[in-house]
Amino acid sequence: MTTMNKQANKQLPKSAAQSTGRRYDGKTVLITGGGKGIGLAATVKFAREGARVIVFDHKIENANSGADAARTAGAPDAYSAALDIGDEAAVVSALMLVAEQFGTPSVIVNNAGAMDFKPIAELTVEDWLKILRVDLLGGFVFIREAFRLMKHGGSIINVASIHAIETTPDVAPYAAAKAAMLSLTRSASMEGKSLGIRVNAVLPGAIDTPMLRENPNVKSGKEKIDESNVGQTADIAEVIAFLGSDEARFVNGASIVVDGGRLARL
Ligand SMILES: NC(=O)c1ccc[n+]([C@@H]2O[C@H](COP(=O)([O-])OP(=O)(O)OC[C@H]3O[C@@H](n4cnc5c(N)ncnc54)[C@H](O)[C@@H]3O)[C@@H](O)[C@H]2O)c1
Repeated sequence: MTTMNKQANKQLPKSAAQSTGRRYDGKTVLITGGGKGIGLAATVKFAREGARVIVFDHKIENANSGADAARTAGAPDAYSAALDIGDEAAVVSALMLVAEQFGTPSVIVNNAGAMDFKPIAELTVEDWLKILRVDLLGGFVFIREAFRLMKHGGSIINVASIHAIETTPDVAPYAAAKAAMLSLTRSASMEGKSLGIRVNAVLPGAIDTPMLRENPNVKSGKEKIDESNVGQTADIAEVIAFLGSDEARFVNGASIVVDGGRLARL
């Protein structure tokens, strides 16, 4: 019998097997960029399922609207703070503050991301570092600190992109950062295993957010998108909430494409 079969034969934990639809009662979820787009949908999903939600965003108005949406959706409590995820020292102190005031979150969603548009011929090293700091190293610092703080295990979800697999012109740093995030996810899943921390990545396709509609490649037609391949933020939030839950207890190191089948077509 394979390990997988043995696992499949074991009973699911009570919380998953007798799911009440509120998988996050009594749990704290931390989400970056949780007041807009995909992050906001995930914030609302977690809140509806009972989670206390902590929203970090470099724009305080976005962080606050995420926390407001969480309270409206039924979160027992919500907290928001301004935080640039590319600022290592600020991330470390914000996480220590959260641990002191709320206890360690059991789920961390590395969702905040940034995208710039420039051909390789014009890119500087500073341009690269600006994107890598947010889209790759931000996630790394959260993972490292989570490994120190999550004493009772947990789940980390990295929001990557289908740009990790296929891409368009003029977004080389973004595509490279998202591809590296998948590698980081695999490394972290191995090193997190003995700590009881699962680490997975979600790769959204085209999702109906300002990030998509204001994308110059989409506007100019350089990136052609069939509207049937445009998903909603809730489509990604559902997968994020699954990965954070006990139902996903055997999902670790995975990179899950959620793109309506866009990449599957020749
Ligand atoms: N929208 C899409 O079609 C799509 C597709 C694939 C992947 N993604 C990824 O999904 C994630 C969310 O994207 P979205 O479309 O919801 O974007 P969005 O622009 O709607 O929201 C992103 C949020 O992150 C915040 N943010 C940006 N830089 C930050 C920083 N340095 N520190 C803290 N907060 C910061 C923004 O203020 C904003 O609130 C990103 O990682 C993005 O790369 C989006």
